[in-house]
Amino acid sequence: PTLRADAIDGLCFEGVPLAAIAAAHGTPCWVMGVGTLKGRARALRAAFTDAGLSPSMHFALKSNDLRATLVTLAAEGFGCDAVSGGEIRRARAAGIAPHHIVFSGVGKTDAELDLALELGLAHINVESAEELRRLSVRASAMGREADVVLRVNPDVDAATHDKISTGRADDKFGIPFGDIPALFDEARRLPGLRMAGLAVHIGSQINEAAPFRRAYARIASLVRDLRARGHAVHIVDCGGGLGIAYRDEIALDPRAWAATIAEAFGDLDVRLAIEPGRWLSAPAGLLLARVIDTKAMPEGSPDLIVLDAAMNDLARPSLYDSWHGIVPVAPPALHAPCTPHTVVGPVCESSDVLARARPLPRLEPDALVAILDAGAYGAVMSSTYNSRPLAAQVVVDDGRMACVKPRQDIEALWAGETVPEWFAA
Ligand code: LLP
Repeated sequence: PTLRADAIDGLCFEGVPLAAIAAAHGTPCWVMGVGTLKGRARALRAAFTDAGLSPSMHFALKSNDLRATLVTLAAEGFGCDAVSGGEIRRARAAGIAPHHIVFSGVGKTDAELDLALELGLAHINVESAEELRRLSVRASAMGREADVVLRVNPDVDAATHDKISTGRADDKFGIPFGDIPALFDEARRLPGLRMAGLAVHIGSQINEAAPFRRAYARIASLVRDLRARGHAVHIVDCGGGLGIAYRDEIALDPRAWAATIAEAFGDLDVRLAIEPGRWLSAPAGLLLARVIDTKAMPEGSPDLIVLDAAMNDLARPSLYDSWHGIVPVAPPALHAPCTPHTVVGPVCESSDVLARARPLPRLEPDALVAILDAGAYGAVMSSTYNSRPLAAQVVVDDGRMACVKPRQDIEALWAGETVPEWFAA
């Protein structure tokens, strides 16, 4: 996020002092910048327009599923990429029209396929031959026709973190590209299917053009092959994956991404779609936390800063060793000399480390810090481990703030739980 320092109030996000947010809504607390989100949505669209493309834009709502986020992006012309029945219903509840929703995912249940068919989504991105056959059975039983896009596994290494790569041959995602033509042939004999095109998504946090280029080249040649066999191919869904600079990475410019898409598909006469998540939402959000205490460590180990935010709130550092900027909110600390610290949360796990060897000033208990670029895969991946309620979510926009999702009530953690009567017997 773009934060500005105010001499009195400390850091501000979109004109709202972070200290005021903490005072009003407590910590830990997620803060989404609506202006930042809108700005990024527009910049992404402009990058494609300048490349001569107007793809349909489906926001990967798994990255940030806040209703305020979905509504903001919908107003900018974005639909959604959903990966579960829950996400489809969430998108619908936020007012996203069914024909602006695409459905991806490696394990769609019958009930989820039925929901997609009933609503008439833009397309269903099918991930296996087995799923295609099952979809045919479901659709014909309902007397419907499914708009089908086959997700191709192009066997391309996205050169990103192992745990967020999805396009290598042994990843669980997509259909091996060599199997696609035979499946299109088979689909001709299967009822209830309208074969519409191909999709590909090779991973996330990708900051090089080359893997995109390799994957898209494979898809483009498949489109030509399929057409040569007499199949109509109308849609190419290019997935998401565009990375951001969390630290000192040189992020791939959206224009460069758009250029790889234009280069591969520009002359193919297909309707293009994209499914970006992180690039839109990550820099639009931060996690606001308070220092509970500090802890001196034995000689040779950096002292600890113990925050009230933890791995149950932001899982990325413990899951992927990912780096998030951490900045003190109050003005004096912003300019104080820094020494390396380990920043941890209170959760009872050694992996509950938010940052290692991080240069930070001496922070006193109660000091506020902002954990940056937390708008993607942040709140959505939170858990209530250690009976820690889900943190509040606040939006800011041009000097205004609103809590759009209150901190989870502690009693909600055990609401609905029972003990069998026969325990007493
Ligand atoms: N489309 C599909 C089919 C996906 O699986 C994903 C992300 C996206 C689009 C959006 O990708 P993006 O533009 O956000 O890179 N939790 C991990 C990231 C997991 C990404 C999963 N799939 C993290 O925190 O880094």
